[in-house]
Amino acid sequence: MTAISKRCSAMQASPIRKLVPLANEAKARGISVYHLNIGQPDIPTPVGYWNAMKDSLPDVLCYGPSQGLLILREAISKYYSRDGITIDTDEIIITTGGSEAVFFAFMTTCDPGDEVICFEPFYTNYNGFATMAGITLVPVTSNVENGFHLPSAATIESKITDKTRAILICSPNNPTGTVLSASELDTLSSIVQKHDLYLLSDEVYRDFVFDGGSHFSTLQLPGIEDRVVVMDSISKRFSSCGARLGNMISRNKKLMEAALKLGQARLCPPTMAQYGAAWIYHHLTADYYTNIQTTYQNRRDLLIRELSDVEGTFFLKPEGAFYATIKLPVKDADKFASWMLTDFDLNGETTMVAPAAGFYATPGLGLDQIRIAYVLSDEKMKKALMVLKEGLKVYMETVN
Ligand SMILES: Cc1ncc(COP(=O)(O)O)c(C=O)c1O
Repeated sequence: MTAISKRCSAMQASPIRKLVPLANEAKARGISVYHLNIGQPDIPTPVGYWNAMKDSLPDVLCYGPSQGLLILREAISKYYSRDGITIDTDEIIITTGGSEAVFFAFMTTCDPGDEVICFEPFYTNYNGFATMAGITLVPVTSNVENGFHLPSAATIESKITDKTRAILICSPNNPTGTVLSASELDTLSSIVQKHDLYLLSDEVYRDFVFDGGSHFSTLQLPGIEDRVVVMDSISKRFSSCGARLGNMISRNKKLMEAALKLGQARLCPPTMAQYGAAWIYHHLTADYYTNIQTTYQNRRDLLIRELSDVEGTFFLKPEGAFYATIKLPVKDADKFASWMLTDFDLNGETTMVAPAAGFYATPGLGLDQIRIAYVLSDEKMKKALMVLKEGLKVYMETVN
């Protein structure tokens, strides 16, 4: 039989979705499953999004510009000016989700065989895009004990080789909820200058920073304007995962010209969704952002309250996004997460979490950790965590 490409054969299936068949089987047995496993926000998409699309209904649903509609790029530029960040509309390319922005960032900065340093645990889909681009992600491990903050500059630099082209960061972070401090970003800035690298910065959770903190963007770092590539998305910020809209931002003109060629190859990002996104970027007030941030922060607090009394669990307070990577007293969190779906229910309910090992590149790390996405209402979160705690208790007594 004709072979499947080596590239696709090498690509891993998404660890976030890997337990889905078990969840489906549990549902088929009549069990309701609380989903704390996937970063799908439950907050309603702003109604203005739908109205703006209806108001823009064209006779023919045409291709748009490869760079994205100007009204959306203007709206994004205005959104950044809120934080005192000046971005020209030509420094933005609209992408099909933040996912495509990650792919464009890899493709424009690296050649096949090149290396990108990233901090594990990391958003697992980076692996797929790295494989597509033919590059190697070189992990630097961060630890649950210090809240997954960056290791020393020397540790990071020890991973740099003559193939290294970039350092990839994600702050606020998926899967850990860690927000890098201005001083951590300064350290990275010095490293990329010293070693002539790009800094690829995934900022899709930039509006979710808790406890009165604010997001410090890599776009604000002086002296490395040409090295910074930001990847962003409307998926989380506007609860619009299905819109498939994101953007890539760089002040490096040559890099943006290269990205535009990639954009032209795929013709254009989704046209209708751009009208909706432009409207919400333009019209949502500070209240909107404060409300979603408060909602997720309250859920984060609930998570801490519910799990703090569970013996053997450990995590530091997540500082942003809507995730926590939690160390459990189990030997194999993959087995525990599967068992919750196959063997456990509390009055017909169970809870699904993501085993964290899939977010690590180094084999054997994160085996006793899970990632929780706190994307359910307070009431559902309480129940989901109660079921999880009870499941963990039974598992520790009978299986572990
Ligand atoms: C860190 C991070 N980057 C990028 C993405 C991709 O987002 P999008 O839905 O815009 O493709 C996600 C989605 O979960 C994410 O968590």
